[in-house]
Amino acid sequence: MAFKWTEELSVGVETIDNQHKELITIVDNLIRAIVNGRGKDEIEKVISFLKQYVETHFSMEEKLMERIRYPKDKLLEHEAQHTQFWENFNELLVAFRKDHKSPALIKTVNTVLIDWYKNHICKTDKSIGEFIRKR
Ligand SMILES: [Fe+2]
Repeated sequence: MAFKWTEELSVGVETIDNQHKELITIVDNLIRAIVNGRGKDEIEKVISFLKQYVETHFSMEEKLMERIRYPKDKLLEHEAQHTQFWENFNELLVAFRKDHKSPALIKTVNTVLIDWYKNHICKTDKSIGEFIRKR
């Protein structure tokens, strides 16, 4: 399935939304590369680009939360979800390196991403936008 950014995913903070759009494009490229059976090296390149982009993105969000004096409990919960993301990411990377053509892997990647969109972007990230609007 193709992943596209929609208004529904907007958290109402331009910098976050723009980076989410870019991230979704990279993820979509990654899934396409896996589904289309591209070479392992080519897929690894997309993965390492994605990794760098996610690092930049998480760090931007975390700095923003500090700057706007986001409530500490919510900030810690948010950061915990970012940490959890890396755990899932690393597990998927190990699975990918074992068998990059595994249909089960593609299914897991989809599940992890759908969960990320529904729970992290639509709840946790949106809550930053709500906090900024209420200030
Ligand atoms: Fe986040």
